[in-house]
Formats: sequence, structure tokens, C-alpha cells
Amino acid sequence: MPDIDNIRIVLAARPKGAPTPADFRLEHATLPPLRNGQVLLRNRWLSLDPYLRGRMNAGRSYVAPLEVGDVVEGGTVSEVVQSLHPAWSPGDLVLAHAGWQTYAVVDGEALRRKLDPDGPPVSTALGVYGMPGFTAYAGLREIGKPEAGETLVVAAASGPVGATVGQIAKRAGARVVGVAGGPDKVAYVRDVLGFDAALDHRADDFAAQLVAACPDGIDVYFENVGGKVFDAVLPLLNDFARIPVCGLIAQYNASAPPPGPDRVPQLMALILTRHLTVRGFIQRDFIALYPEFLREMGRWLRDGEICFREDVVDGLENAPAAFIGMLEGRNFGKLLVKIAD
Ligand SMILES: NC(=O)c1ccc[n+]([C@@H]2O[C@H](COP(=O)([O-])OP(=O)(O)OC[C@H]3O[C@@H](n4cnc5c(N)ncnc54)[C@H](OP(=O)(O)O)[C@@H]3O)[C@@H](O)[C@H]2O)c1
Repeated sequence: MPDIDNIRIVLAARPKGAPTPADFRLEHATLPPLRNGQVLLRNRWLSLDPYLRGRMNAGRSYVAPLEVGDVVEGGTVSEVVQSLHPAWSPGDLVLAHAGWQTYAVVDGEALRRKLDPDGPPVSTALGVYGMPGFTAYAGLREIGKPEAGETLVVAAASGPVGATVGQIAKRAGARVVGVAGGPDKVAYVRDVLGFDAALDHRADDFAAQLVAACPDGIDVYFENVGGKVFDAVLPLLNDFARIPVCGLIAQYNASAPPPGPDRVPQLMALILTRHLTVRGFIQRDFIALYPEFLREMGRWLRDGEICFREDVVDGLENAPAAFIGMLEGRNFGKLLVKIAD
């Protein structure tokens, strides 16, 4: 194997509250020798995703946390440089989970799929045509189930999950209300994505605007954020409303419980009396739907029926600042780091 200088970013410390640049460290390292069944990857695109903030905390979650000193994890579009696995050849472009580094040695079995350079842009395998798009597709298919004439609300509506949720719900004939931060994102959600209404959650009168935008109440609330948006949605939920709980980004940086009063009894009463379905999910719960998603989304993208937006940051060294910014809403579209051409 050639002598490669692998540049990587590791978790230097567990963030307390919002992450800071000091929680990350850039290192140079050599790669381990390639063993049978392994491949050497050069990472081209890196995905920055909100779930990573949870991985940085110690303690139980749905997967093990990162340890201090670990390479920060993340989905990548990578090129196979060398292969000791029969399924992969040098030059293949693959969807991998090779993390915040320029190269990686991984097991060939762990590679997720080969990418077609003639299909949708390969970077979309990290966004609308990958995990976030699948999250939207599966969460709606299995839990949200929007029907024609119903009202669906989704926040983080300009991001890869929210934008896809709204567009798929529109295809099902639902009336879609998107919530986003700031006038540019609101205009994009309304004018480019074609949602029926778009609101800025930072507006002082956001709750009143939501009431006006949902005259028939809310049948599906695709929960991406929690916090103030959830508070405004709650009183508007109709009988038998469905709430796929996908993410709670408004509280990912919280280091203490919110101040009282305790609203759990009120929430439980509402779940009971309005017959609500509230179901948390992690996209891979529905992995059996993945081939169908690739087929359908592939067709929608080819036919221009679903649109998407990417926010590209150049250079691995800029990943920490971009990730920190995403948790504050500074990304506009699927946040990607371009590591190499
Ligand atoms: N369950 C799963 O399997 C799964 C899989 C993928 C993603 N997710 C979740 O889905 C959600 C969206 O993910 P994504 O990749 O599409 O992210 P994204 O929209 O690209 O980025 C996150 C966005 O969240 C919004 N946000 C941040 N703080 C907020 C706050 N306090 N209140 C309201 N909005 C806030 C910001 O948009 P604005 O500026 O518009 O507010 C920010 O741009 C996240 O919660 C993520 O954890 C879950």
C-alpha cells in the first residue's frame, strides 16, 4: 500500500452544551496495512448530520457513543483506491461510513452501495437520495401516512429531511406547512419547494402564524426539532393525528432539563383524548423499504419531481465550524464537506 498521509479529525473532548472548535482536533496519521476483505478508500464527500451531536455525549442511546480520540464518524462518498474484497474494484465510487478523514481502510462488507456516476449526482447519496431522504420517505410511509386533504407540518423544512417530507406529502395530496429559520429559507420553502405555506419559527408571533396557516388543524406533524415549534403545534393537533418523532434538534445542545412546570401529564392527556399516534423511529428500523426508496426516489429525481439543495463547505479542516453552525441553523440545504475532487 502506498505511504499515505491520512488527515483526520478526532473528538478532542466531549462538548458541554454547544460544541466548540476546541472539542475537535486535526491529526495526521498513517493507515494500517490492508488485510484480506478490506478496501482502501479516498473520501470525496462527507456528510454532516445532526445525529452526530448525540454521539458526542457519553451514555446510552440507540448506538454506542464516540470515545474521546475517535475519528468523528460520518457518511461519505468515497473512491475505492485498492481492494482486497471481490465485490469492489479500484475506481468504484461507493457510499461508505468512513468518517472525518481523507482516507480510510474499511471492511468491504461494510460498504453500503456502489454509486452510478451516470445517475443522480453522487453527493445526493448523502442527502435526498440517501439516509436523510430515506428518513423522510420511511417516516411518512410507516407512521405519518398523509392523505389527500390533510394538513402536514414539518420544521427544518429547507434541510434534506424536511424538504423531502414536504415534497412527498404534497405528492400524496396533503396541504403542507413548512417551518424554517429566516426569510431566505422561508422563501425557498414556499417558492422553490412549493409548500402551501412557510413560516419563520424565529418570528415573535410564530404561534399565531401557525394557527392562521392551519385553519383545519394538523393531521401529521413530522417532528424534526421539538422546542418552540412543538409547543405551537400541540394545541392544533386533530383527532387521530400522527407524529413521527424523527429528531429534536432544538434540544441536542441542552445540558440540563428545561425549567418547569412539568408538562408531561398535559401531554399524556392530549395523546389520550385526541387519539394521537406518537412514534419515535430511527430510519434503519424501516431498512426493508430501502430498495423501494431507491427505485422511487431515483425516478422522482430523474424526472425532476423532487428538488433538493446542497450547502457545500470546501476542505475537511472546515468540518467542525460547519457542524457547529448547523446546530444553530446556519446551513441552508444538505450540509456536505467536499474533501477531494
Ligand atoms: N430518526 C432518524 O433516523 C433521523 C435521520 C436523519 C435525520 N434525523 C433528524 O431530522 C432532523 C433534520 O435533519 P437534517 O439532516 O434534515 O438537518 P438540517 O435541516 O440540514 O439541519 C438542521 C436544521 O435544524 C434547524 N434547527 C436547528 N435548531 C433549531 C431550533 N432550535 N428550532 C427549530 N429548528 C432548528 C435549522 O434549520 P432552520 O434554520 O430552518 O431552523 C438547521 O438548519 C434532525 O433533528 C435530525 O436529527 C433523524
